[in-house]
This record gives sequence, structure tokens and C-alpha cells, in this order.
Amino acid sequence: MRSTGLVLACEIRLRESVGVIRNTLDSGVHSRAVQLSGSGEENSELRAALLSIWIHGPETLELNNVASTVHLNEILSYANSTLDIAAFKDASMNGLQIEGAEQIGLLAVSVDAGLSIVEEAAAMGANALLVHHGIFWGSCSPVSGARKKLIKTLLDKDISLLAYHLPLDAHLSLGNNAALADLLELSNQQAAAPYQGVPIGCSGDNKDLTFEEMLARLKKLEGSPGDIVSLPFGPSKPRRVCLVSGSGADQLYRYKEEGFDTLITGEAKQFAYHFCKENGLNAIFAGHYATETLGVKRLAEDLEGRFGLPWKFINEPTGI
Ligand SMILES: [Fe+2]
Repeated sequence: MRSTGLVLACEIRLRESVGVIRNTLDSGVHSRAVQLSGSGEENSELRAALLSIWIHGPETLELNNVASTVHLNEILSYANSTLDIAAFKDASMNGLQIEGAEQIGLLAVSVDAGLSIVEEAAAMGANALLVHHGIFWGSCSPVSGARKKLIKTLLDKDISLLAYHLPLDAHLSLGNNAALADLLELSNQQAAAPYQGVPIGCSGDNKDLTFEEMLARLKKLEGSPGDIVSLPFGPSKPRRVCLVSGSGADQLYRYKEEGFDTLITGEAKQFAYHFCKENGLNAIFAGHYATETLGVKRLAEDLEGRFGLPWKFINEPTGI
């Protein structure tokens, strides 16, 4: 519970400092270089508030909703259980992949845990990086070369790495596919497209949109490759749509069981052309990256609402 006095003090100091601080941060100075005076508690509040202003702009700041820091374990406990990571047989290690600072004041969010993403997270002063594609997949492999550099950067900067792969495709409100279904205004949304026995996709009924209108909406996704591949061999107004973010073209084989006439996924596969043509199906390949930007953002928004944790998305489209 924050005192009114503290909030007022922060508010007054914020009004005085916003212009200077924003200019400082926008000019590329590391957020941690900002010098604050006053008590430790007040500094912590003020730093979180300033980060929120930097990310969202002063008009969106709600001082009472700004937390100082959140313990890493609180975030992990909530995200791991909400996304039910234990239910999935996934090549990705889900949850914590690298442990950094215990207290998190700023969360960086991205699709891939590439070195450039990690370096940007470090530059913005993030204490944790939340991604869809982490760095630990399948069997063990040596930590050397570029991989060593990436992990060393995380450890040197005390940044935790959190990855949620299939669980963040599948979740029916926070997941990539639920977000895509909302974008297309699908009703009767249900879990679909099982992988290793667990649904990772989402299907829904379409009422109003034509295939071309769906295509137009998907082209506007952040990180869209632009000229996305589509196979319009089904109804011009789709009835039932199945969404499988990333690499889900093989789910076309399940169109009878799943009862869809249109599949939307990220990456195209060669077999899809004749398969769709011969079976009267539509398919849209909206980009692996573009179809997987939504889940991490929804999870970050959820964490912000629950814990008051500021976050910032690092956008590095792959064109794939
Ligand atoms: Fe993916």
C-alpha cells in the first residue's frame, strides 16, 4: 500500500522531470544512469514510473498502478501455472531458462532470444527477457561460440530469460492463436490442432469476413513479411477457421476431424498447394514471426495488469 504523500511527491517530481528524463532516455542514455535523489523507496517508485512514461507516454501513466519491482519467482509461479507448462510435450524448455536478478523492474519482450535481442534488452536496462523461442531445445549441446556470447551477456547483465513456446501458442485467452482468432472476430473459439496429444491451436466460426478481408487483416500484423502466401481454394467466405501459429501447415491433414475449411498458420509447405486445391480448402501463411508476436505481448500485458510490471517489446522481424 503506497502512502498518498509518496504518490503526490512522485507526481510533483514527475511533472517537473518528465521532459528532461524523456529527452535523456530518448537520446540513448541508459535508464539506470538517471540520477534520483530521495529515499530508496521513493527512488524505486519514481524509477518505475519514469520507465512507464518512457514506454507508454505520460498520458497513460497511472501512478497507483506502478509497482517498484516484482520478484522473479512471483512471475514464474504465475506464468507457469497459468500457461500450464507441465501439460505440454515440447522440444522447448518452458519457463525459466537463465536466472538473472531476483527483482524485476523492467521486462523486455520479444519473439526470439537472438543475441541482438539480448543486447537490446541489456541496453534498455531490463532485468528479464520474455520470449516465445528460447535457447534450450531438445537434447543438450555445448555452450560455445555465439551461444556462449549470448548466455554470457545475459549472466553479465543479470537478465533472466523466460521462454514460453507451445503453452503460449495454445492458451485460449493469452495465446498466439486466441489473439489471431480475436483479430478475425471468430466466435465459438475452441482448442484445436493437437500436437503430441495436446491442442496447440484454436478454431472458430467466421460470420462476416471474406477470405480476402482475412488476408488483408493478417498482412497488417506487426512483422508481417508483406507478400504473404495464400491458397484460395475454399469458400470465399470461410465458415470454420483453424489457427496454428508458427509452423502448422501439417495440420491441413486434419481438416476433416477438426471440421475447418480454412487454415491460417505461419510458414508455407510445398504439399499445401495441391492438397488445398484437391480438397477445396483455403490456407493463409501469414509469417512465422508475425503470427507469434501476439502471445508474448498478451502475457506481458497480463503481467503488467497483475503486478504493475513495465514492459517493452523488441521488434526484430525475420521475414519468415
Ligand atoms: Fe514458432
